[in-house]
Amino acid sequence: MIAGTQPRWRLPRELVGNALVLLGLLALAVALLPLHDEAWWPAMPRGARWIEAAVVLSFYVAFCGWILWRSRPRSARTATGADGRPRLLVAWASQTGFAQQIAERTAETLAGAGMDVSLRELAHVDTAALAASGRVLFIASTTGEGDPPDPALAFVRDVLAIPASLPSLDFGVLALGDREYEHFCAFGHRLDQWLRQSGANPLFDLVEVDNGDAGALRHWQHHLGLLAQAPELPDWSPVAYDSWRLCERCELNPGSAGEAVFHIALAPLQSAQATWQAGDIAELGPRNAMPSVEALLARVELPAGAQVRFLGEAGTLGDALARSHLPAPGDARGLDAQALADTLKPLPHREYSIASLPQDGTLQLLVRRMRRPDGSPGLGSGWLCEHTAIGDTIALRIRGNTNFHAPAPERPMILVGNGTGIAGLRAHLKARIAAGARRNWLLFGERNRERDFFHRDEIEGWRANGSLERLDTVFSRDGTRERYVQDALRVAAAALQAWIDDGAAIYVCGSLKGMAPGVDGVLREILGDSRVESMLGDGRYRRDVY
Ligand SMILES: Cc1cc2nc3c(=O)[nH]c(=O)nc-3n(C[C@H](O)[C@H](O)[C@H](O)COP(=O)(O)OP(=O)(O)OC[C@H]3O[C@@H](n4cnc5c(N)ncnc54)[C@H](O)[C@@H]3O)c2cc1C
Ligand SMILES: Cc1cc2nc3c(=O)[nH]c(=O)nc-3n(C[C@H](O)[C@H](O)[C@H](O)COP(=O)(O)O)c2cc1C
Repeated sequence: MIAGTQPRWRLPRELVGNALVLLGLLALAVALLPLHDEAWWPAMPRGARWIEAAVVLSFYVAFCGWILWRSRPRSARTATGADGRPRLLVAWASQTGFAQQIAERTAETLAGAGMDVSLRELAHVDTAALAASGRVLFIASTTGEGDPPDPALAFVRDVLAIPASLPSLDFGVLALGDREYEHFCAFGHRLDQWLRQSGANPLFDLVEVDNGDAGALRHWQHHLGLLAQAPELPDWSPVAYDSWRLCERCELNPGSAGEAVFHIALAPLQSAQATWQAGDIAELGPRNAMPSVEALLARVELPAGAQVRFLGEAGTLGDALARSHLPAPGDARGLDAQALADTLKPLPHREYSIASLPQDGTLQLLVRRMRRPDGSPGLGSGWLCEHTAIGDTIALRIRGNTNFHAPAPERPMILVGNGTGIAGLRAHLKARIAAGARRNWLLFGERNRERDFFHRDEIEGWRANGSLERLDTVFSRDGTRERYVQDALRVAAAALQAWIDDGAAIYVCGSLKGMAPGVDGVLREILGDSRVESMLGDGRYRRDVY
């Protein structure tokens, strides 16, 4: 869950109600006491009284149990169908069919990953259905001049126009639109805003799709993979990668309490598109380590060099296997090379924030090597951090990420991030410093200052020469009073308010869990919900969290 509006603490109404009833009963008992004019009965009650009391007590206990069962929390995070599969509703609103198509594909993908998915047009959804669903993905296009699709008009009139209370709903929004229009993705944003105002919890930030942009749709698939806990879901359409050369790799945090983080630099081979802006994303085409491919080929007795057609192209079987989920040897045995290639499912892409500018001469990344439950390295991070050697070719393409592009240099900028989130922020700082913008405030958090302060010399150098007006670092395992960036932000409330009053933009990059909702909650505490909402709306508060 991101952003989440942190629930504010309130005295529960039922607690107040119960306390009032008890007080009333006590007052009644005291008022009736004078009627008891006989001496108190000193002996044990008779047997029949015990039975009557036991019957009344059993009814009372059963009644309390029923009340508790009825009001049990039905949080989306635990919502499961009758068969125990995680449950989810996909709701769509479409004018000319594209949103419907994407909704069907989304539902198919999640159902294929084992979720219990239902698919419904938004026109047939109401507040009660949303509350009962627990977890909903909305896929909504915009038409006219920022209007909802026609079939969604009843939903807008009967549901969206009325404030609702949906605190147990988790949601994600995919907004389809076209930047050529003045009100880009307006209906998706309106829906997103209504859901947030209703207390629903965003699973991730709204994903905007400009004119069917395949990159944005792949980003949506990334979220689906995390949601279904199936990070190996194949991409919907194959990605056309460029070729880059791995030219530098060094571990930045040896001895860290966390997983290793690597600085990685890549140089474009001739054909690669080598321009980008701060905020853009590198999409990586991971491959399986060659020893795993060779081991499989040896077991099925096929040569790596056998010629096959895979994803519409001619190539070798070894290359096709390196780019695909490896089948179990039992499933592959007995097949010829082409028949085996025909069964292969391509590996999905992985996304990394670009940490440098084209003028640095290389495309730089900051990658944490993730581990799978069996201890083996993750697909993308393992490929970049472990399985490749300097000089190897890497399949990668750049995706423009307009949602995280820089504010104007004259606008002050607050950059908040943790862990590898410093990657995207570093590119922004480099670009701003190059443009002469000095009103930069960085808040960075990790575990230990000595081990995990990535790019420390560079950042402290910027602070020393005035390129960074303010720097707050928080290291959670160093025993400092503020443990995380959100705590540092809370302590700096007065400065934050002053920067925002000066027109500052806030950019947040790093963990989807913990950091992003924590920062969002503190911003709302300090600035208030309506100011945060309006900053989200006008692009002064942007997030790139994963
Ligand atoms: C917009 C964007 C920018 C990103 N930028 C960076 C970056 O700059 N540096 C960086 O290191 N990563 C970044 N990531 C995350 C990256 O894309 C991969 O998710 C990450 O490297 C793990 O992928 P993998 O293939 O190595 O692991 P997988 O094979 O997918 O999984 C290995 C293990 O890691 C866990 N895992 C997978 N993804 C995540 C996640 N997002 N958070 C926590 N655990 C996870 C899995 O549950 C599994 O246990 C970014 C993601 C997005 C969407
Ligand atoms: C007549 C018309 C008006 C549109 N108006 C907007 C708009 O105001 N804002 C926007 O972001 N996209 C606008 N679009 C683009 C659509 O949202 C985009 O093409 C979307 O993918 C269509 O999805 P659908 O087939 O589900 O309706 C418009 C498209 C058409 C044809």
